Amino acid sequence: MSAPADEYVLDTAVVRGFIDDVRRAIAEAADPADACDRIRPRFAELLADDGWLPAEYQEPAPESGMGGGIGQWLLYRAGDGSLSLFSLVVPPGSATPVHDHLAWGLVGLYRGTQDEEIYAPAQGALDLRERRALKTGDFYALIPPRDDIHRVRTTSEVTSVSIHLLTNDTGCVWRHAYDPHSGEAEPFRSGYVNVSCEEEDATD
Ligand SMILES: [Fe+2]
Repeated sequence: MSAPADEYVLDTAVVRGFIDDVRRAIAEAADPADACDRIRPRFAELLADDGWLPAEYQEPAPESGMGGGIGQWLLYRAGDGSLSLFSLVVPPGSATPVHDHLAWGLVGLYRGTQDEEIYAPAQGALDLRERRALKTGDFYALIPPRDDIHRVRTTSEVTSVSIHLLTNDTGCVWRHAYDPHSGEAEPFRSGYVNVSCEEEDATD
């Protein structure tokens, strides 16, 4: 059976053009690090473009799976679960749980400022490895296992909006949330505010 069709929730020329370029970069790249390097200029362009992301995808979500009013809005996902583009909206003072992603990609800030804490697993616990401050336009490549476990907190007085391009259906896969003190991992599925996750079944 063929994979389900790609889903352009935000179906615009900008998003389609971006995804086309990302697909081409991934196809031509030798490995994830190379793919991220190839995508960087286009990702920077997307973060610098004020006009492409409608206000509805920059809104917090009181009932979200992330807690804290944090909204995770799907913009695009591949039918085969190999790529997704979404916005993550974090109200002032709110922070995500400590979590992982289980896929490589790029994450960048579109609005506001954030502090990011990056953790590394260490003998059943978590070590805070790095803390960095991000401002609008900043972005980074995330290539597991390095840098895969983090927490972000909004430090601006305005809601922060980050754009995530990751090589899985991040909102729908089962990943992990961590207790930062004990390092204990729990199964975690954040979901998206605006689309549902199909229950995985083995019928196809
Ligand atoms: Fe994250």
